[in-house]
Amino acid sequence: MESGTVLIVGSGGREHAIALGLLEGETFTDLHCAPGNAGTSLIASNHEVNFTDAEGIVELAKEIGASLVVVGPEMPLVMGLADLLRNESIPCFGPQKDGAMLEGSKLHAKKVMESIGVPTGRFEIVDDLSNIEKHLDSFEPPWVIKRDILAGGKGVTVTSSRIEARDALTRAVESDGFVLIEENLSGEEASVLVFIDESGYVMLPASQDHKRVGEGDKGPNTGGMGAYAPAPVATPSVLSRTREEIVEPMHHYLRNLESPYRGCLYVGLMIDNEGSPNVIEFNVRLGDPEAQVTIPLFESDLGTVLLSVAKGRISEMEVDFSEMHASTVVLASEGYPGDVLSGREVIGWESRIEEGQVIGFTHLAGAKISNEGKLVSTGGRVLSATGIATSLRDALDASYQIIEGIQLEGSHYRKDIGFRALSA
Ligand code: AMP
Ligand code: GLY
Repeated sequence: MESGTVLIVGSGGREHAIALGLLEGETFTDLHCAPGNAGTSLIASNHEVNFTDAEGIVELAKEIGASLVVVGPEMPLVMGLADLLRNESIPCFGPQKDGAMLEGSKLHAKKVMESIGVPTGRFEIVDDLSNIEKHLDSFEPPWVIKRDILAGGKGVTVTSSRIEARDALTRAVESDGFVLIEENLSGEEASVLVFIDESGYVMLPASQDHKRVGEGDKGPNTGGMGAYAPAPVATPSVLSRTREEIVEPMHHYLRNLESPYRGCLYVGLMIDNEGSPNVIEFNVRLGDPEAQVTIPLFESDLGTVLLSVAKGRISEMEVDFSEMHASTVVLASEGYPGDVLSGREVIGWESRIEEGQVIGFTHLAGAKISNEGKLVSTGGRVLSATGIATSLRDALDASYQIIEGIQLEGSHYRKDIGFRALSA
């Protein structure tokens, strides 16, 4: 008999979305988070265990009698949290170390793709400063330079300036010993989250994240400034090619790992003008903020689905999604994505919309509830305003109605989330 107790690891808007999704279902009635955030504190028990403290998480899971641990961020997975949990026979949604290397090392991911023929940009390894010009000559600008480190999207430089490219290559080789230079892929990006285990997989509705801080997808990369789903750029034909050319071979590869992959494979796609999908990156977890717009589209009980994956039985489940549209707009602290100013009160975050088929509410992220019961910013991405409706336009209207009513000194948000879909 399952205990009905679940532990969610992480502290972002994604983890709030997972907790809300589980709350809607019947599989888990006792929700715990480590460490969680202000949002999860309202619906679950938060525990002061850092998500990088793998032993602490395992102890906590045992103490509360968790029958499932859902791991939000990549870091604990790369560090081997899932390995420790499975040693204790605790089901875990999230791959073990060998699978998590797909995100832990971009070079590893490239080699896997190359060996099984998954479409991705050509790359070279740069490890000798005297060959930099030769490497730059062998790619057309803009140059894409990727450090082989976990950097939350910030280890990548895309530039048409040869001086900047040379500089990025030099700095990376000096600090890491080597760096990847990669063919620039053009087109439109989309994220396809795939719940996958050795028995099968389920592709979630495709979403699109806006990674750049500024409107028109300009400016520095961030963790994500907003997202929506489904993303129309992922047409039925793109999705069927993604399944055949990427997901099927990856499933074959992952199910044959020493420890079969059980969790989410995040496929970051670049879709070119002809509708050909190419992989930009793999992540080994749900995206943030992609989770905030895909989890609300589950019609099936999320808890049962996550538990099935953690037990290697996803093929036994029929997983259904609604026909609704979802959007989320991130409210970021002053300074984000650079050094942020936090510790400021957030006002107006509780407002909700429930009008006919339109729902609007906030997913909380870098924020805590103070002793006086006020919401106070603690990080870069403070919250996101999520809308769900029968059309993307209505979902976005709900997101913006909510976010326009929120006050946080110095904060900023993008006013053009979803623009590619709306102008399509
Ligand atoms: P990554 O950390 O690999 O996701 O890269 C961060 C962002 O850099 C991606 O979301 C893209 O916007 C951009 N990027 C990465 N690789 C490429 C590429 N080969 N071609 C064009 N843009 C890229
Ligand atoms: N939103 C991008 C990511 O989660 O990696």
